[in-house]
Amino acid sequence: MAKAEEIENGNGFKMGDPYYCKECKRNHTKGKIYKEHLNFALFEDANDDDIEDEGNELNYDDEAELVKAFHEIDDEESTIEIENQLEDSIYSEDEDISDNRDSIQDCINAVKKLPGVGEATLNKLIKAGFSSLESIAFTPPKIIQQESGLGEKTTEKLIKSSMEILNIGFKSAEDVWEHRKNIARITTGSQELDDSLGGGVETGSVIEFFGEFRTGKTQIMHQLCVNVQLPKENGGLEGNALYIDTEGTFRPERIIQMAEGLDMDHKKVLKNIIFGRAYNSDHQILLVKEAANIIKERNIKLIVVDSLIGHFRSEYIGRGTLATRQQTINSHLHDLLRLCDIYVDLSIVVTNQVQSKPDTFYGNPLRAAGGNIVAHGSTIRVYLRKGKGEQRIAKIVDAPNLPEGEAIFSITENGITD
Ligand code: GTP
Ligand code: MG
Repeated sequence: MAKAEEIENGNGFKMGDPYYCKECKRNHTKGKIYKEHLNFALFEDANDDDIEDEGNELNYDDEAELVKAFHEIDDEESTIEIENQLEDSIYSEDEDISDNRDSIQDCINAVKKLPGVGEATLNKLIKAGFSSLESIAFTPPKIIQQESGLGEKTTEKLIKSSMEILNIGFKSAEDVWEHRKNIARITTGSQELDDSLGGGVETGSVIEFFGEFRTGKTQIMHQLCVNVQLPKENGGLEGNALYIDTEGTFRPERIIQMAEGLDMDHKKVLKNIIFGRAYNSDHQILLVKEAANIIKERNIKLIVVDSLIGHFRSEYIGRGTLATRQQTINSHLHDLLRLCDIYVDLSIVVTNQVQSKPDTFYGNPLRAAGGNIVAHGSTIRVYLRKGKGEQRIAKIVDAPNLPEGEAIFSITENGITD
């Protein structure tokens, strides 16, 4: 869909100035160009009254149109941006689009069946990005209210019903065991590292890789994004990855090298990695909250946050901000943990820098940043350090069901190996 063509009417524009749009043959208003044009493009037959509603009360004729509208809004407005290098390959195959649309349709149908959801409520939910039961059940009520404009009572009811359908609440230990039996694993590329992790990076947990600079944290993140796409018999989950990059160190070139090392079609591999660059901690938090809306639709089986603490560390400076910082990190980590709880087949990996703790007299003076909050939030922690040349040493330091052990792996041109 083409965006409005902006034609300069005078010398410079201020908010509220009119823009003449060649495509709609009508004026748009600066600050609202995109929304007005989207409305025009979606409902070319719509009369001007509809357009002036700023899109809040649009009438969708039928469900197919609603799905289409959602899809277009999603394509155009998603804060998850795809790196330029990846753009060519996105949606290049028709079958993927129809798969994608089928699963969106399934999610919407489930929301539609919630008690009390009529056409108007459904429209509001979808326009605000709440197109699945999961996204409703796990988003704080205040956020649903703000984004969708629905009332407090309706929101509460929707959350409660979604939670009931998804069977969220107290469970017996037997149910927990059933849940854990479904846990799958992604190979890291190194047999030794896989073994020390109990067979690879498991789903249903937040796994933290921490260590000094150049110890291979980012390399492991890249490798997992490739490996998650492998067939199950080869150590993958046949799923896609979502990469949240807070440091600007994501490199498609490395993905290509790693994919080629595994004889995979690198174009497909790149296409299946959804990339989001977080420019500050608020943005990072938002990207994780948005992730809930696309996990099912885009078959995401791995979420990477590289790195978890970096922005928080640089934004909250000084002793006085420590408490707020820890609280914010804590709630961010809980957003991640919650995703693991809902999606049994989702794996979350985060990286963490280490900070030196000079008052340690014995043991390793390097400690993961973020303190106890991160230690308690992540379910498995892996400490990385340098060995000789390409070698790196990984030590499992904190896992509820794994022995503490060390593994040696290498970083090569083709990625992580033994
Ligand atoms: P920070 O983000 O700085 O904390 O470090 P990190 O732990 O994320 O390090 P990263 O994963 O970026 O690892 C960098 C290391 O990977 C380099 O020191 C190289 O040794 C290795 N590496 C990266 N690319 C290649 C490559 O193409 N071939 C080989 N052999 N090694 C590579
Ligand atoms: Mg890194």
